[in-house]
Amino acid sequence: MNVIVIGSGGREHAIIKKIKENSKVKTVYALPGNGGIAQDATCVNIGAKDIDKIVEFAAQNKIDYAVVAPDDPLVLGAVDALNAIGVPCFGPDKAAAIIEGSKVFSKNLMKKYNIPTACYEVFSDVDAALKYLESAPIPTVIKADGLALGKGVIIAQTRQEAVDAVNSIMKDRVFGESGSKIVIEEFLTGPEVSVLSFCDGKTIIPMISSMDHKRALDNDMGLNTGGMGTVAPNPYYTPEIAKTCMETIFLPTVKAMNAENRTFKGCLYFGLMLTQNGPKVIEFNCRFGDPETQVVLPLLKSDLFDIMLACTNGTLSDMNIEFYDNYACCVVMASQGYPKKYETGFKIDYDKNDPNIFVAGAKLEGSDIITSGGRVLGITATAETLKQAITLAYSKVEKTQFENKYYRKDIGQSALKAL
Ligand code: AMP
Ligand code: GLY
Repeated sequence: MNVIVIGSGGREHAIIKKIKENSKVKTVYALPGNGGIAQDATCVNIGAKDIDKIVEFAAQNKIDYAVVAPDDPLVLGAVDALNAIGVPCFGPDKAAAIIEGSKVFSKNLMKKYNIPTACYEVFSDVDAALKYLESAPIPTVIKADGLALGKGVIIAQTRQEAVDAVNSIMKDRVFGESGSKIVIEEFLTGPEVSVLSFCDGKTIIPMISSMDHKRALDNDMGLNTGGMGTVAPNPYYTPEIAKTCMETIFLPTVKAMNAENRTFKGCLYFGLMLTQNGPKVIEFNCRFGDPETQVVLPLLKSDLFDIMLACTNGTLSDMNIEFYDNYACCVVMASQGYPKKYETGFKIDYDKNDPNIFVAGAKLEGSDIITSGGRVLGITATAETLKQAITLAYSKVEKTQFENKYYRKDIGQSALKAL
């Protein structure tokens, strides 16, 4: 089969390496891919949001299947457009991708179907939002309705910060049209867990749990990023909590989407917080997480491509999905300065034969791979214990060289303490 994978990050690199293990997969094209992905797939210079060009490419190159990995093309309807020319896809259609594309939609869905989440109010009027903040409990959480490159969530520790956040999102439109509506919600506390799941619209099978490290600096200080590292499984996510989540969150969400005529097929990502009052949903994503994928897929024993086809065909209940009984740790190596300003263009020296090194912000220049983005590489290691996985990941990080490199030194430390 000829397969296209849409996207250009470490997540896409991990997906591509894994689907190539299936003998049905003959050719993989990455649109646009990156300098490291070019080792494993044919990169085609078409942007992930350029749906017309993606469809044209698929039609001209006898594409049999597409994996749409990032949020933007999913929310824009890439799956609908590819299906319309007869190309089956892994990923939700536009109607279902709204579960990530609109926070107002997802909060209202949870309220309507009794899925546990933080209490909230929705505002489309600045003055009403500011009035509400005069008496809202502090800290409070302010979320732009639409996609905002993972930056649309502001945790306000003071009333003034909350007012500033509302003004910058709704008046100054720092996130563009995403800020035409906002959600103001209750601040929750507790350990966070990411659970990615396979879903075919009827059956939902959770993958192994993971823990992201979203802040830029050690000890969870500094700015929010796309994710600076991950470990799996997440030690806070006990079998008992998993059972509760299945009953109160995962199955009700699948049913709710069906009841709304928005059947979800693909990877449904649950961002959970384990509060004193039980697990609650912080966010839904309509796709694999990055860098969660870089720890979850290396632990997947079963064949990813067959599972993807089953999600598309509605035959997931026939699949027996297994994970290795190991731990994984992924350390993201970034450009110094990320998520703010950073320099790029430096040659990267890494072990190209390591199956668990995933390239993100890098491009080819002649035969060199040079840095081109904020998050440059995800370095994953798996082992029998979490401690071994962490040690091994960091030893590979130390062998990986590029000018201006930056990484957190404490990925997995809080998980180790929890164990
Ligand atoms: P998101 O962009 O939706 O992933 O949110 C970014 C981060 O903000 C989450 O990983 C949480 O750490 C935090 N967050 C979001 N909503 C809440 C909430 N209601 N209470 C506490 N923290 C939150
Ligand atoms: N790592 C968080 C996300 O992919 O949204």
